[in-house]
Amino acid sequence: MSVLEFDKVTYRYPGDDKNILENLSFAVEPGSFHCILGVSGCGKSTIFRLTNGLLHQTEGRVLVGGEPVGGRRHVCGYMPQKDLLFPWRTVGENLALPMEIRGGIPKKEQLLRIDAALAQVGLAGCRGKRPDELSGGMRQRAAFARTMLTGSDLLLLDEPFSALDFLTRLTMQEWLLDQWRTTGKTILFITHDVEEALFLSSSVLVVESTPIRSLREIRVPLGADRTRRDLTRPELVELREELIGMLRKQVTE
Ligand SMILES: Nc1ncnc2c1ncn2[C@@H]1O[C@H](COP(=O)(O)OP(=O)(O)OP(=O)(O)O)[C@@H](O)[C@H]1O
Ligand SMILES: [Mg+2]
Repeated sequence: MSVLEFDKVTYRYPGDDKNILENLSFAVEPGSFHCILGVSGCGKSTIFRLTNGLLHQTEGRVLVGGEPVGGRRHVCGYMPQKDLLFPWRTVGENLALPMEIRGGIPKKEQLLRIDAALAQVGLAGCRGKRPDELSGGMRQRAAFARTMLTGSDLLLLDEPFSALDFLTRLTMQEWLLDQWRTTGKTILFITHDVEEALFLSSSVLVVESTPIRSLREIRVPLGADRTRRDLTRPELVELREELIGMLRKQVTE
C-alpha cells in the first residue's frame, strides 16, 4: 500500500481565483526518498499542507497510510520551511512537543526518547541548551529529531537546508541520507536545488506546470550508498541539465 496518495486533488486558496493544484494524482511507496522539485511559488509547500491536514483539498482525496487525512491525528512528521524551534524552550523541551501534543507518554519515557533522538542526530548532551546556543546545522538536526519524535513513518521536509551555508548543507545532505538508510522512513523533501534533488532522491518528482496537474517522476540511477562524486558521472550531469531545462521552461511559460 502507498504511504501517501493524492487522488485527483484540486486545491484553491479561499478568495483566490485560480487553482494551485488541479486534478493531481500521485502515490509514494514505503521507504522511498523523493525530492519535489519546482520553481518558487508553484505550490510545493501547499502539497505538504494538504498532506498534514493544515489545509483541506477543494476536491479529490488525500490518503496517508490508506486513510483520509483529517480523520486521523498526527499522520506525518512535518518540518516546515521556516525555523521552527521555540527560542524560549530548551532543546529538550522543543523535542518533547510532539509527545506532549499526542499525550499519554510519561515524562520519564519522554526523556529517554529525547536523549535517544539527540544521540542519533549527533547532539548528545544538548538537551538543556537553548536553540540560540546551537549553530544553524545543529538547529536543523534538532528540528529533524523533533520531527522524528512524532513517531511517523512519513517525514515531510520543506527546504530544511536552504538557509545553511554551502559546506554545512553538503554535510547535512550526507547526514540525512544516512538517517534515511538507518531508519527506513519514507521521506518527501522539497527543494528548488537540482543537485540537492539528484544527490538525495531515489526519484525526483518535478513540478512542470502551474496549476500543478502532475508530477513528472525522474528516476535517479544511483543506489542508497551514493557519494557526491557520483554526481560527476556523465549520466548524472546529463540528468542535471535535463532537470534545469524543465525548471527553466516552467519559469518562462
Ligand atoms: N495562505 C495563502 N493564501 C493565498 N495564497 C497563498 C497562501 N499561501 C500560498 N499562497 C499562494 O499559493 C502559491 C503556492 O504557494 P506555496 O507556498 O505552495 O509555493 P512553493 O512552491 O512552496 O514556493 P517556495 O518555493 O517559494 O516556498 C503561491 O502563489 C502563493 O502566493
Ligand atoms: Mg514553499
